[in-house]
Amino acid sequence: MFVSDNLKFEIQTKISFVVCLFLALLLLSPMLQAVEKLKLGQPATAKEIKGWDIDIRPDGKGLPVGRGNAIDGEDMFIQKCASCHGEFAEGAGRYPVLAGGLDSLDTHDPVKTVGSYWPYATTAFDYIRRAMPFGHAQSLSDDEVYAMTAYILYSNDLIEENFELNQNTLALVEMPNRNGFIKDDRPDVPMGEPCMKNCLSKKPVVIGKARQINVTPDEEVSSADASSSAVDAGRGEAVFAQCAACHSIDEGDNKFGPSLHALVGKKAGGVANFSNYSVAMRASNLVWSKDNLREFLSSPQQFMPGTSMPFGGVKDQAELNDLLEYLEISTTGN
Ligand code: HEC
Ligand code: HEC
Repeated sequence: MFVSDNLKFEIQTKISFVVCLFLALLLLSPMLQAVEKLKLGQPATAKEIKGWDIDIRPDGKGLPVGRGNAIDGEDMFIQKCASCHGEFAEGAGRYPVLAGGLDSLDTHDPVKTVGSYWPYATTAFDYIRRAMPFGHAQSLSDDEVYAMTAYILYSNDLIEENFELNQNTLALVEMPNRNGFIKDDRPDVPMGEPCMKNCLSKKPVVIGKARQINVTPDEEVSSADASSSAVDAGRGEAVFAQCAACHSIDEGDNKFGPSLHALVGKKAGGVANFSNYSVAMRASNLVWSKDNLREFLSSPQQFMPGTSMPFGGVKDQAELNDLLEYLEISTTGN
């Protein structure tokens, strides 16, 4: 009686172990395939884009429909903003001063406020809607943001207390420092309209300056120093992220896949304490070289039918070369 119960239990445990393993693989392989094709996620919907697309331009483009004046805004400013910015926007403690400072910009002690420094009134709306009150960003309604903006502009003597700010009037408010900014004429700054598409006339050249001046850690220098900078072990390490769920490069550290320590020159299926090799791997009689690793890793099942490595392969040749470089260098057993 006791014995058979025990046996039953053992069988049950075995069965549930196999089921778990099966489920884990079932979950793992589509996940890996998805990662591999980089088709993660889904296209953003128009509504989602609208939620993010809240920037406002100097000419008022992007302003939402709404309204508010300084009288509307006073109570709320005192409630929600004054603890940091002062009741009259004069600043409290070390928090930013939002009003005053006019005519101070070219002194030794410039006071840069929304009123004295900012070139466009619309930026105040954009900034407040995006970021204030500090700690409760994006909690204000559009009307409230208009009213807060109005209160700050009013505190700077730029508008009357009953002047209504809305999507049409805000951009009309002229800021004192509107023309206080000069073009950046340093020689390395492109002049004219900024380029917005197809801006590169030729492929950028990677100069590897950090390596020349020897600030890159030693082991990487040896790999990439070879002026054939086309192959890059550093990038290979990033490619290895796809493998790291199952493989470690540390000696004796087997995960779902065997440790890849000292890989090149080692017999395939030869990690002594790894018990999950497929028959195909154990019987392959291969010694890993960069060449056969290239073939195996580009399409494991095709190169070695029957391998139990649940991985579709690295299809991008450049990525594969970088990966092989990384594997050769980082897994050499010394
Ligand atoms: C808890 C403190 C706090 C509260 C409350 C707060 N702010 Fe601020 N505010 C800050 C800090 C800190 C900054 C600077 C943030 C930075 O530079 O990243 C700032 C910056 C600003 C600026 C830009 C100032 C500049 O010259 O760069 C504006 C405008 C502003 N806040 C408006 C408001 C308004 C309107 C409210 C109320 C709805 C509000 N803040 C509530 C702390 C606060
Ligand atoms: C989902 C887990 C998984 C992923 C991801 C994976 N492997 Fe494997 N790998 C295995 C398993 C399991 C084996 C054993 C295969 C066999 O015995 O047929 C294996 C075997 C290998 C072997 C043979 C090792 C030996 O001891 O002979 C190499 C080399 C290898 N993998 C490299 C990689 C590289 C490089 C990547 C990433 C590009 C990768 N693997 C991705 C699970 C994985």
